[in-house]
Amino acid sequence: MDNPRHYFLWDARSFLLCSVVFSFLELSLCCPKECSCEHLLVNCTDRQLEEFPSGIPMDTRQLILTHNNLTYLPSVDLNLLIDLVYLDCSHNILGNSLEATFIAMPLVYLDLSHNNITKITSATFYLLTSLVVLKLSDNPNLEEIEKDAFANNTGLRQLDLSRTALTYLDVTTVSELPSLRTLGLSSNPWDCYCPLKDLLKWVMESDIYFTDEENLTCTTPAHIHGELLKNTEKHINLMCFTNLYERDYIFLMLVGFVIFGSGTVVAWITGVCIVIYDRLCGTSEDDEDEEDEEPPPPPKPKKKEEEA
Ligand SMILES: *[C@@H]1O[C@H](CO)[C@@H](O)[C@H](O)[C@H]1NC(C)=O
Ligand SMILES: *[C@@H]1O[C@H](CO)[C@@H](O)[C@H](O)[C@H]1NC(C)=O
Ligand SMILES: *[C@@H]1O[C@H](CO)[C@@H](O)[C@H](O)[C@H]1NC(C)=O
Ligand SMILES: *[C@@H]1O[C@H](CO)[C@@H](O)[C@H](O)[C@H]1NC(C)=O
Ligand SMILES: *[C@@H]1O[C@H](CO)[C@@H](O)[C@H](O)[C@H]1NC(C)=O
Repeated sequence: MDNPRHYFLWDARSFLLCSVVFSFLELSLCCPKECSCEHLLVNCTDRQLEEFPSGIPMDTRQLILTHNNLTYLPSVDLNLLIDLVYLDCSHNILGNSLEATFIAMPLVYLDLSHNNITKITSATFYLLTSLVVLKLSDNPNLEEIEKDAFANNTGLRQLDLSRTALTYLDVTTVSELPSLRTLGLSSNPWDCYCPLKDLLKWVMESDIYFTDEENLTCTTPAHIHGELLKNTEKHINLMCFTNLYERDYIFLMLVGFVIFGSGTVVAWITGVCIVIYDRLCGTSEDDEDEEDEEPPPPPKPKKKEEEA
């Protein structure tokens, strides 16, 4: 430590450290002009924002962007917020699938309700492994959620998919979430035909809490329009299983007919063959018989001629 070089190094290090700390302080002290910031919470509610606000402190833990006009979230800016656990982007006009938007954040709460999201793929939320609450309700153009869309969100306790355009959802998308307690599926135009039967069965048997259950109904087919998903067992049994048996019977009958038909044809051909064979063999035998009956040419006269 007596060595002046050490002093110099130490000074340089502390200077660097100080400037880093200072710039961090500066970053955390500043606040986007459209927002209010306090205690690691940045609130930009209802400011007619069309772009993600710049200059959000890097140590922000809660970010509220609700009731704005955001059409997209810039992944780079968003993922600089490495401490962000709470993000409310409800009531905007975010579109598409938001793939590659969320990368490095420890998000626990994510609200994307009341937007214009059209599709959720397996790459939308797969890196948000800390998620506990996810709200996707009131996205009127959300038509598709891929089967393994939430496969990595194993901590998910609350998931809201109400009031979207979903007609179908693969049951494993939700049934294999080990922590799920509350699920919103209501007021979607569910197409309660046989492809949905596994989800319907799961809704009947699951002990999860379904929000707004009186609006958890089928839209199609027409004869069970407005029926609660929970009360569709009879229809599903009639529609899917009995029909299957009927189809099986028809199939079996067809197979029977085919076997019967081909059997008849085979029998007929065999018969014809036997007859033809019989005829052919019969004539040849007759020929042989005729040949047999023909008296062999007597050599004797020749001998006699020779003798003569
Ligand atoms: C955010 O700000 C709005 C008004 O600008 C206010 O109504 C709301 O309560 C605030 N939210 C929080 C969590 O402080
Ligand atoms: C933002 O959207 C609202 C409706 O949601 C609209 O009334 C307003 O004009 C929009 N503002 C801008 C700046 O586009
Ligand atoms: C919502 O998305 C649909 C389909 O991508 C598009 O046609 C429509 O214009 C969008 N609505 C808004 C308000 O951006
Ligand atoms: C889950 O996340 C990890 C990274 O945290 C990733 O490597 C893996 O592919 C993800 N699995 C799925 C099914 O998306
Ligand atoms: C069910 O939906 C109707 C209209 O779609 C709505 O008026 C009603 O409030 C909903 N029920 C609940 C409990 O939200």
